[in-house]
Amino acid sequence: MWLDIVAVAVSYYKGHMASTDTNLTSKDSSKAAAKAAQDTWGDDTLAIRCGFERSHYGEHGEPIMTTSSYVFQSAAEAAARFGGQSDGPIYSRFTNPTVQIFEQRLAAMEGAEACIGTASGMAATTTLLLGTLQQGDEIVATRNMFGSTVNLFKNFLPRYGITVHWADGLDVNSWAPLVSSKTKLLYIETPTNPLTQLADIRVFADLAHAHGAQLVVDNCFCTPALQKPMEHGADVVVHSATKYLDGQGRCVGGAVAGSAELIDRLTAFMRSAGPCMSPFNAWVFIKGLETLSLRMQRHSESAEKLASWLDNHPKVSHVYYPGLDSHPDKALAARQQKSFGGILSIDIIGARESAWRCIDAVKLCSITGNLGDARTTITHPATTTHGRITAEDREASGIGEGLVRLAVGLEDVADIQADLEQALSHT
Ligand SMILES: Cc1ncc(COP(=O)(O)O)c(C=O)c1O
Repeated sequence: MWLDIVAVAVSYYKGHMASTDTNLTSKDSSKAAAKAAQDTWGDDTLAIRCGFERSHYGEHGEPIMTTSSYVFQSAAEAAARFGGQSDGPIYSRFTNPTVQIFEQRLAAMEGAEACIGTASGMAATTTLLLGTLQQGDEIVATRNMFGSTVNLFKNFLPRYGITVHWADGLDVNSWAPLVSSKTKLLYIETPTNPLTQLADIRVFADLAHAHGAQLVVDNCFCTPALQKPMEHGADVVVHSATKYLDGQGRCVGGAVAGSAELIDRLTAFMRSAGPCMSPFNAWVFIKGLETLSLRMQRHSESAEKLASWLDNHPKVSHVYYPGLDSHPDKALAARQQKSFGGILSIDIIGARESAWRCIDAVKLCSITGNLGDARTTITHPATTTHGRITAEDREASGIGEGLVRLAVGLEDVADIQADLEQALSHT
């Protein structure tokens, strides 16, 4: 029995390539099957079936492989496996079959050749940066990103001799002069957290490629269900799986998707550095991917309704949501995304005092920093998710004291609206 399970695990290991639930026995057939699946299956089928190969039990659902290491038949087999002369799992820091189902499935959904799961979204970014960059390299980014990403770039990368050039928001004209032959990566979020600003991925990809650099897109807010950055020219996609990929606020995890060559390099980094995803978390994310598209549609529909209502609310001075006519990039969002997403932010009249009063008064919404949950969450970015960046950086990126971010959940939209209505009456 165990030999069979190990045999299944071996076939998963084949080069991190997206595979299907057909019986695959070699790296080449795995690649071919993955390509065939990506070419023939629709997105929803890939999200539900890609990457899973049944064991002889014929289990319908994906198993959780909770093992730290794998047993070899002989010392020679162990040596061949460790030496890379034969394929197969070695140790779950870098080869776990359940994690690999998640990786193969997400790769297929993003239209990437390969993917690597990580311990968190920040671990995904760190793995990408430390696994590819070296002293003297440069990257270009903007402060209009998740606070911890700004902090990682600002406080830690310079210690390793990596220079970060800070562009002005997502205006590509302010990026162009900062890109040079030393630039290895351009790094963007679109839409951004928390102001839902958009970048035209194609334009940024062209700028990166003109200088031999690569474009990295944090696709956390949209997920591949709403936006596939690689179809617009991006080279690398990073994810916080903690958010919509999970979808119910249970586990922390992340992923990097890109070329097979990139993921091989990151796997080598993972093997030495170890910021890996746990198999249990991978299983939760696999289940999340199966319903991702349906959930994203509903998150978007509800957010759109709430954004329109809040746009006319007397206590709200501005609503940031790509689906509103007032959003400067509505046309770009309509072109680049399948729908407008589940996150919106509002400026509440009366600055921090009013924003906190509103947050303190919610009865249904959860006061928490996470997003992408089935439950609607509400937070004050200036003192939570973006509280550790400098006041100057917050101001430069437009995060004011009256700003409140809502990650619209899957509850009845009328109930969310009623809760916000009564909460706003306290401001
Ligand atoms: C856009 C974005 N990227 C990355 C992250 C980091 O993800 P994690 O919390 O899984 O490390 C977050 C977390 O909120 C985020 O909002």
